[in-house]
Amino acid sequence: MKFNEKYGPFALVTGASSGIGEEFAKQLAAKGLNVILVARRKERLERLSDELEKKYHIKAIAIAVDLLSDQFLKEIRKVTDTLEVGLLVSNAGTMYIGNYLHNSLENDLKMIDLNIKTPAILTHHFAQQMVKRKKGGIIYTASMLGFMGTPFASIYAGTKAHEIVKGEGLAYELKPKGIDVLVLNPGLTDTEMTAANDFSVMPMKLMKPGVVAEAALNALGKKVLVTPGFMNNMMNWMSKRVMSRKMNTNMFGRLMDKTF
Ligand SMILES: NC(=O)c1ccc[n+]([C@@H]2O[C@H](COP(=O)([O-])OP(=O)(O)OC[C@H]3O[C@@H](n4cnc5c(N)ncnc54)[C@H](OP(=O)(O)O)[C@@H]3O)[C@@H](O)[C@H]2O)c1
Repeated sequence: MKFNEKYGPFALVTGASSGIGEEFAKQLAAKGLNVILVARRKERLERLSDELEKKYHIKAIAIAVDLLSDQFLKEIRKVTDTLEVGLLVSNAGTMYIGNYLHNSLENDLKMIDLNIKTPAILTHHFAQQMVKRKKGGIIYTASMLGFMGTPFASIYAGTKAHEIVKGEGLAYELKPKGIDVLVLNPGLTDTEMTAANDFSVMPMKLMKPGVVAEAALNALGKKVLVTPGFMNNMMNWMSKRVMSRKMNTNMFGRLMDKTF
């Protein structure tokens, strides 16, 4: 089945106002899918939807909503209930790097809600629709940090570990129902999220968000986990085959401590 037939006619992308999500939206539109763009910054979403409609002759719809608000699914459903959403790209997320004790509990809980609760709500809703159509796809943007205990980003890494493990389980359960689940685990990526920190001590370079999104779209339906980039894959290999979990955490502790 062609990409559009399997995952179209509409793809919904959260966090589409910048970074990896914006690239997902552009590349899906280039493949001929209609896109629903979700994030808080309305002007950015509207500018992007205008650009994509003109360039690719598809339909692009902007939904400006805070995914931490109680009513967010209601706002999304106002638009999507009459549409066929064949691909959910659950990508919006926030990160905190710094001393655990310096971040407020309120911020930790917001991060947990946006990175775990929001994708859970979206998955529960859209997977039911896809099952009825016997086809579709779900992409979760997790992180390489989800593979290990990560000092100075402990809660963030924990939220991404949740997405990885959930995605692996759901991929098995939903495959017989025609739904492909992919977990994208980027390494460092050059987006607004990484702009405030200095990652020059890290053994890998920041990747371009377009390359990261492309790797995910190429892997959808073929793999369950994907990490873009040669160096990132070397790190993954070493962290599983050569180093113990404790060694990984100690190494990342030393590196992360120098990034903020
Ligand atoms: N950059 C990296 O090095 C890296 C590495 C591994 C994984 N990731 C993951 O990649 C994903 C995308 O991040 P990015 O790097 O592309 O960073 P980004 O440019 O900061 O994008 C984050 C996106 O999430 C949206 N968002 C944040 N809070 C939201 C809220 N409450 N409601 C609705 N939307 C919200 C933002 O839009 P608004 O501000 O307009 O709402 C933005 O579109 C995240 O899940 C992140 O954890 C990033």
